[in-house]
Amino acid sequence: MPRDLRSILARPGPVLALAPMQDVTDLPFWGVLARRGGPDLYWTEYFRVHGTSTLDAPILRSLVENPTGRPAVAQLIGNDPVALAKAAVELQRYPVAAVDLNLGCPAPVVYRKCAGGGLLREPHRIDAILGTLRQVVTSVPFTVKTRVGFADDSGWDALLELFARHRIDLLTVHGRTVSGMYRTEVRTDWIARAVEAMPCPVLANGNVHSPERARQVLGETGARGLMIGRGCIRNPWIFDQIRQHRSTGTWRSPLGREVLDYITDLYESTRPSAGFRERLQVEKMKKYMNFIGEGVHPDFLHRIRRATTREEFFACCRDHLDHESPMPLVPPPLPAHAAGVGAVGDAVPTGVPDPSVADPSQGSTQ
Ligand SMILES: Cc1cc2nc3c(=O)[nH]c(=O)nc-3n(C[C@H](O)[C@H](O)[C@H](O)COP(=O)(O)O)c2cc1C
Repeated sequence: MPRDLRSILARPGPVLALAPMQDVTDLPFWGVLARRGGPDLYWTEYFRVHGTSTLDAPILRSLVENPTGRPAVAQLIGNDPVALAKAAVELQRYPVAAVDLNLGCPAPVVYRKCAGGGLLREPHRIDAILGTLRQVVTSVPFTVKTRVGFADDSGWDALLELFARHRIDLLTVHGRTVSGMYRTEVRTDWIARAVEAMPCPVLANGNVHSPERARQVLGETGARGLMIGRGCIRNPWIFDQIRQHRSTGTWRSPLGREVLDYITDLYESTRPSAGFRERLQVEKMKKYMNFIGEGVHPDFLHRIRRATTREEFFACCRDHLDHESPMPLVPPPLPAHAAGVGAVGDAVPTGVPDPSVADPSQGSTQ
């Protein structure tokens, strides 16, 4: 498997990428995914960049120690062109497949500071940032991950022109506006507009949770590939299932016992080597379980959320998953009022710190 983005893009078939997810897509999680097939391309969590920031050491470690054998893209979030350029230059000394700019984060504490999705309200600032980054990102491709606008898609075509003018090498489009958070329908027609307008490849992102949905999104958008986030927390086999579906027309669902193994792997892989505390680890597991549990049974999540010890946690997992029946691992449909017309599940489930309202940047994004 090639370790650079251009070779990945030169291969036939859709490119399957892991979406960046703050506090989720770290080094241990990459390993857990890779052991179950994994994507073609990994993304880091975002590096927060401002005037006095330094590159986050744990995220750098994921690049240096990348255990997947596949390329990893480093993502930046911020709005200071000089600071972003400095971070991008430094990052190119590490094994990065590309440097990516975040133009989609919908957390109010981020967008109010005009970073992430907030920049979509100020295209002239995006212009300046892209111009600066394009000049300094020379040894690897320069990529952007964006939503289609802040409140609506009225500026989408102009934004695409901006991306094209700055000759970005790859664009990932989450087919929602920033105001749409994680709740509205994913608009494949908006993604298709990008595919048509951009001279570079486009990855489609949002609510891909099954091989059928993957095929549908690729068909409706013409995208070069897919980026998948929550769908692969719930179902880490999804990348291999999509590959299998494309080559054979069918795919294999994991058995309950394999899902139990996955949860055990997550528990063991993500436990800190120093300062391990069982109670904290059980709490940490709940952030993954909120997604995994959606595809299991309502009682399962109810019990998991009340577990405080490893024994309680795994007793519940065993009761629901220690069996040989196939698990579809798809989310339930959203209620029509919450989802918007035509939406399927994949909201941020109740009880999860909703990245649309929580503060994934902990307030330090400038
Ligand atoms: C917990 C969480 C953290 C996220 N962190 C980031 C991030 O650091 N950078 C980014 O560009 N998007 C981030 N996102 C957005 C995802 O990359 C992705 O665009 C979004 O979840 C839609 O894709 P999905 O439906 O496949 O999950 C995050 C999403 C979630 C749920």
